[in-house]
Amino acid sequence: MSRRILIAGNWKMNKTSAEGAELVNGIRSALTDCCADKLPEVLVCPPFLDIATAVCAAKGSAVEVGAQNVHWASSGAYTGECSTAMLLDAGCTHVIVGHSERRQYFGETDATVNKRAKAAVDAGLVAVVCVGETLEERESGATTKVVGRQVREAFSGFSANDMSKVVVAYEPVWAIGTGKVATDEQAQEVHAFIRKTLGEMFGSECGDSVRILYGGSMKPGNAAGLLKQKDIDGGLIGGASLKADDFVAIIKAAMA
Ligand code: PGA
Repeated sequence: MSRRILIAGNWKMNKTSAEGAELVNGIRSALTDCCADKLPEVLVCPPFLDIATAVCAAKGSAVEVGAQNVHWASSGAYTGECSTAMLLDAGCTHVIVGHSERRQYFGETDATVNKRAKAAVDAGLVAVVCVGETLEERESGATTKVVGRQVREAFSGFSANDMSKVVVAYEPVWAIGTGKVATDEQAQEVHAFIRKTLGEMFGSECGDSVRILYGGSMKPGNAAGLLKQKDIDGGLIGGASLKADDFVAIIKAAMA
């Protein structure tokens, strides 16, 4: 089963619109000399307010644009939220759901992750659904218990067909923004476990076809080793996605 590599940038709360456009321009111009059929899928996820200019800057290139969150309702009194229709209208193809920072600081739960991801998929967006254990959970031996629960609850009520619009991102919380990357083996082990869990839920064909990204201090220097792992199908990159040179170096590592 061949799964196309996806290199996704999560800008978090960084960049004004002008800075975001400059970053997209830097990425697209660095990719012009790359052979199109060797390129991985390339995605940037700016803050909501930067999406329109990023879409404009990416037009006609291989760079796709996604959001960092979405609400499940189609409209209504949900201050601070955006709907799937708004994201599609702005030109988004993807949306990150359930990032650990949302879970940690904004009360995101497995149940709300499930609702957001389902709404995204139903609307035709690709949902990049994040899971991952904290340091305390890893050290107490609870990694597979926690990640297994997050996966089962995030995709509860999904069909195998829904899963064709899903990408999972394994992001160990202890590796996010800390410079402490999971080793290739640690990451591969959890990726294989997530794939097995998806296989149990939706059948092995579906388990084999869903892409699973690694996230957490992925950088130009460690990307190649991680991306070589059998069950690692790309990266969700925070810090290193904010500089065109670093992000492009990771994209090139995926092409090697
Ligand atoms: P990081 O962030 O690459 O800065 O560790 C990854 C993420 O949170 O998606």
